[in-house]
Amino acid sequence: MNFKNELKEYQEIIETELKKYIEKNESPEKILNQSVEYSLLAGGKRLRPILVIATYRIFKNDFEKCFPYAVAIEMIHNFSLIHDDLPAIDNDDIRHGKPTNHKKFNEYTAILAGDSMLNNAYLIISKDLISTTNNNERNQKIKAFNELTIAIDRVIAGEYVDTESEGKNISKEKLKYIHENKTGAFLRACVRIGAILADVTDNDLNKLTSYAEKIGLAFQIKDDILSEEGDEKVTGKPVGNDKNKKKCTYISEYGLSKSKEILENTIEEAVESLKDFGEKAEFLRELAFYIKNRNK
Ligand code: IPE
Ligand code: IPE
Ligand code: MG
Ligand code: MG
Repeated sequence: MNFKNELKEYQEIIETELKKYIEKNESPEKILNQSVEYSLLAGGKRLRPILVIATYRIFKNDFEKCFPYAVAIEMIHNFSLIHDDLPAIDNDDIRHGKPTNHKKFNEYTAILAGDSMLNNAYLIISKDLISTTNNNERNQKIKAFNELTIAIDRVIAGEYVDTESEGKNISKEKLKYIHENKTGAFLRACVRIGAILADVTDNDLNKLTSYAEKIGLAFQIKDDILSEEGDEKVTGKPVGNDKNKKKCTYISEYGLSKSKEILENTIEEAVESLKDFGEKAEFLRELAFYIKNRNK
């Protein structure tokens, strides 16, 4: 199967799994549930859960085992997007080509929808842990859960430093710190979770971690590039928003052409980290190029 079709197939799998967790009822908080559904089914690329499953599949076939993690991770991702768009953080009005959650609903609903997704993610994982009776398997899942919580701690820290740094002159090291935390840490965790659930050796885990760290940084550099020169109709997000908010980005630090060069080199390094995995890692290799070339 070619990469594009495989990606689409994965996206459909994630979509189907996510829909199983959408609450539809007449409870007093039904608008809150609608607001969760609005963001969760808005058409994201589903890259994070796909990374979990694709990494797992280098080693094992029964990838359904990853589903609770895949769903939880996409929920947490959407929590981070809703909060990132809030007036107090990036103050953005459009995402996925639609009004951001707080614009469609209101601020308190958006804040609580984010909180709800974060907690639901942990709820899904804890339920899965309780129902796992095999000790070895449960231990892997506990490790994976730990990996996730550490990463989210870093995402929050990265979002804090990103917001605090608006309009300031910061060092190149601090800029890299922002990118590696607000975005890189989560992508890194997705790859590691897939690997941990597949019970890989430390050696394989280290190589995959190196791949993940590179694509994590590259992903945010590309996001910075798209905020500079993307097509709003394709990205579904406002172009020029980083500049307007005086965000510290790879563009503000290095300019467009140097940022593209850094992106190119970082992706090359990511692909290099996969060299020992041969054919089995072809999808992850293609995904690295996709991250570099994507226009949304
Ligand atoms: C956007 O992530 C937020 C960043 C970390 C840059 P995605 O580009 O993966 O978001 P989706 O695809 O819209 O969900
Ligand atoms: C998003 O960073 C990182 C998180 C949501 C944690 P950005 O603010 O740069 O991403 P976009 O461009 O709004 O998606
Ligand atoms: Mg932001
Ligand atoms: Mg933002």
